[in-house]
Amino acid sequence: MLFNPSIVNTTAYALTELHNRAIQLKEQGIDIINATIGDPKDDTPESIPQALSHALTRQSYSQYPPYIGSQPLRQAIAHWAHREYAIDLNPNDHIVACNGTKEAIFSFPLLFDWSDNAVIAQPSLSYPVYHMSALYHHIPMVSLPLSLRNGFLPDLDAIPDATLQKIRLLWINSPHNPTTTIASKAYLTQLVALAEKYNFIVCSDECYNDLYDQQKPASIMEIDSIHWVCFRSLSKRSHMTGYRSGAIISQNKDLIQWLKKMRSPMGVGTPSFIQEAAIWAWSDDRHVDKHRALYNTKRTRLKQALNQAGLSVFGGNAGFYMWVKSPKYSTSESLSQWFLDHRIMVTPGTTFGDDGNPYIRLVFCLRDDELNRLIDQLAHDPIR
Ligand SMILES: Cc1ncc(COP(=O)(O)O)c(C=O)c1O
Repeated sequence: MLFNPSIVNTTAYALTELHNRAIQLKEQGIDIINATIGDPKDDTPESIPQALSHALTRQSYSQYPPYIGSQPLRQAIAHWAHREYAIDLNPNDHIVACNGTKEAIFSFPLLFDWSDNAVIAQPSLSYPVYHMSALYHHIPMVSLPLSLRNGFLPDLDAIPDATLQKIRLLWINSPHNPTTTIASKAYLTQLVALAEKYNFIVCSDECYNDLYDQQKPASIMEIDSIHWVCFRSLSKRSHMTGYRSGAIISQNKDLIQWLKKMRSPMGVGTPSFIQEAAIWAWSDDRHVDKHRALYNTKRTRLKQALNQAGLSVFGGNAGFYMWVKSPKYSTSESLSQWFLDHRIMVTPGTTFGDDGNPYIRLVFCLRDDELNRLIDQLAHDPIR
């Protein structure tokens, strides 16, 4: 059978030595804190499941949901965007709701013609879905190097002209998973100017933009252009990863028109009762303020504990990750091992690309009891 070789030949999940060691420790009854998954552990605000169950009792939902998102949902997204970024979006021309942004990101490249050897560009450390999507769709990729020297943001002046000529989509993710870097408005403006000059689309993945400590991160939506598409998600800001709800936004009417056509046969309509809960979430700013405050407290406590343990934290001013290194460990693997010896499982930076050495990524979207234990364990003697 001729299966897609990009699926057959990639390892779904490499069982590294580190994971084997974690399994071993668990078998010995040693409790390991899993700080690898960016999935908020604190509860979803009560009003969200209430909006959902209220919707369910109001009417029967035996019909297919509107796959582009209901009119009230797209209107709620437009109102939210106006409150946040003073942008005027037309719910019909500029917004498509999605089933969480992961599926939207994965399928987005299908919208374009790749027959002329055009490429997708992504930072050398990235959310793996950009790469997996290109791989499965057989689209060539170019990697834009990240390092501490460039503040973990692609150096736009260093992209060769020949590469810029070939780029059709360029992924940018700010605040960045995994490094937490925040792109300034000036940076995004320069990027969009390049996209206009070289006729490509900036795909701005902004699922962490609402969770910041002091200064609100810039959004691509602050820049007036038809050369961007923005992916926003309720998963992190509203603790709704399990609901699957997000938005694809662009000022480019043609792009949105063809995107709707493309998504029509895909079966990605979010169930209508979840769309009702999503309307509540986009319309309420107070719960997001609360979540911001919640993560500010967790962030400050954890940063302090990491510094006291002799580790250095890069950035860490937005999102719910810490990008950490140690002068004593020259590889991500050895630093991850140090954490595991302290009963904490983290993600080696190299999981996101070779430029991740010698960092690790640690999540802090944990419940307070778990975070307290993690902080205690940082100060504890290692198990050996
Ligand atoms: C950078 C980035 N983009 C997109 C997503 C997908 O989020 P969702 O599908 O829950 O909207 C994630 C999830 O962890 C992420 O880290």
